Amino acid sequence: MKLGLVGVGRIGAFHAETLSRIEAVETLVIADAQPGRASAVAAELKGKLNIEVAEGTEALLTSGIAGVVIAAATDAHPTLLRAAVDAGLAVFCEKPLAPSAAEAARLARDVEGHGERIQIGYPRRFDAGFVMAREALGSGRLGWLHSIYSTTLDPAPPPRDYVAVTGGIFRDCSIHDFDAIRWVTGREVVEVYATGSNRGEEWIRELGDVDTAATILTLDDGTLAVVSNTRYNARGYDVRLELHGSEDSIAAGLDDRLPLGSAEPGVTFPAGTPHHFFMDAFADAFRAELLAFTEVVAGEQTSRCTVADAIESEWVAEAATLSLHEGRPVRVDKVRG
Ligand SMILES: NC(=O)c1ccc[n+]([C@@H]2O[C@H](COP(=O)([O-])OP(=O)(O)OC[C@H]3O[C@@H](n4cnc5c(N)ncnc54)[C@H](O)[C@@H]3O)[C@@H](O)[C@H]2O)c1
Repeated sequence: MKLGLVGVGRIGAFHAETLSRIEAVETLVIADAQPGRASAVAAELKGKLNIEVAEGTEALLTSGIAGVVIAAATDAHPTLLRAAVDAGLAVFCEKPLAPSAAEAARLARDVEGHGERIQIGYPRRFDAGFVMAREALGSGRLGWLHSIYSTTLDPAPPPRDYVAVTGGIFRDCSIHDFDAIRWVTGREVVEVYATGSNRGEEWIRELGDVDTAATILTLDDGTLAVVSNTRYNARGYDVRLELHGSEDSIAAGLDDRLPLGSAEPGVTFPAGTPHHFFMDAFADAFRAELLAFTEVVAGEQTSRCTVADAIESEWVAEAATLSLHEGRPVRVDKVRG
């Protein structure tokens, strides 16, 4: 099949390489707003698959592609997603849908009816550990959950220009935790209490964002979840989801590469080298989600993360942002449009 890819920055270039290793993808047409970026990625992939560089998004969308992967900056998602849907294409769009929940909701209304042909990029839904944690909970063997701990700690902040268009840490980073909690438990979040701090570089505060955040979620069955995020976890990239139940407890992301030292005498776990990039930690999950997308393009399956599904996490991120700014718990139904 012939696919398009718009935006070949950090994740877009990585997706291009992943797509080049998926057999069903014969030709990839790429475009980026920054001159030279698409040609540079094309040069790296030469010989791995047929690769074309389009002059712009319009040229890409009319180049005979069957589907498109949108990996451009967050503020470009709504326009690109609408254009791809108008062109009648199957679409994979990176998270989040938009820099604000109101914009995401407008977008969701506009693309309603196209739902099963749009997949939003939440790779934890395709990660073996997260899948197993979900199955363990679904099987009943954990009993009822009393506590969930969800952790996403980045080793270092992304570039300033990236952060400036994300809509803040809750929409950019914590939204992965919010989505994973919803997906693994099958429950919705009813209330959010968030706080944050700025102990790192000053430019994050200047952009109106925090570098570290803690969020307490109350789910609709009363389960409490604690979400922890930072841009400054020097020891490595730490992504974990702990499910603690009345009968048993289980964690995704708890392996030898966990970036945490034990203070206990004689304990050597974890002994591996921590990941420093989300691309390494989730390489298999990124491949699995893009493989699933090629099946959506081919009409062999429907999207496993639709816009209607993804919009719920945007409301949680919106509630968390409001909670941080107003210093109080916020009910999600008070922000939902
Ligand atoms: N699912 C994940 O785990 C994950 C991980 C990283 C990033 N992301 C998401 O992917 C998106 C991109 O992140 P990144 O880290 O690659 O950012 P980046 O800043 O490295 O790259 C963004 C690219 O988009 C291009 N771009 C911007 N507007 C465009 C437009 N209108 N048309 C074409 N190209 C355009 C820029 O020139 C740049 O090359 C963000 O929305 C981010 O939230 C998701």
